[in-house]
Amino acid sequence: MIKSNFPEDLSTRITKSGIVAVLVIDKPEDSEPLAEALLKGGVNIIELTLRTPSAIESVKRIVKGFPEMTVGIGTILFPEQVSEVKAAGAVFGLAPGMNPIVVKKTVEESFPFIPGIATASDIEAALGFGCRILKFFPAETGGGLKHLESMATPYAHLGLKFVPLGGLNQENFTDYLKSKFVTAIGGSWIAKREEISQHKWASITEKARIAVESINKMKK
Ligand code: 3PG
Repeated sequence: MIKSNFPEDLSTRITKSGIVAVLVIDKPEDSEPLAEALLKGGVNIIELTLRTPSAIESVKRIVKGFPEMTVGIGTILFPEQVSEVKAAGAVFGLAPGMNPIVVKKTVEESFPFIPGIATASDIEAALGFGCRILKFFPAETGGGLKHLESMATPYAHLGLKFVPLGGLNQENFTDYLKSKFVTAIGGSWIAKREEISQHKWASITEKARIAVESINKMKK
């Protein structure tokens, strides 16, 4: 079998935390107070999306100022972005889809990557590149937990783990996290784009804290 594209310590960190905050940052100067607000609430893994011109600068700022934050970068759509995000200091990448050209590049660059999957064929394409952690996207409209569990069952012997994203929130995420197939959940509800632009740091901290509290209760 092809070697996993994910270092053990990084996947352990993701599993231990159980939650990934998906971020769209418009102004790079919002990066530091945002990272601070999330860490204060106990969220220490992010998917900072490449959807704004300031994304790379934002990654650099968070990597520099907050070594305790595990910085992933999302929405990697083109192979040339792989070296760029790696150079910016991101430790792993994600995408909404399973693009073989992008995934091949992440393997060549030894950059841990979580491709998006929505079908069994996507899972099998990802397997061929050594991907063992997959983003189930969009989770809620794509069939939810029931669909994920049916789709993942034939691959259970391979130990694949999923990160459901898309439509998750404080009300529905714990069901996902209880599944043996799910290593972590995530979403943008913790720090919405508008809240970031409006500097609602206290509200972001509070949502992060509530989510982390729910996760800790589940671990008991
Ligand atoms: C994304 O890539 O946008 C994420 O999966 C987040 O989805 P959400 O905004 O529904 O949480």
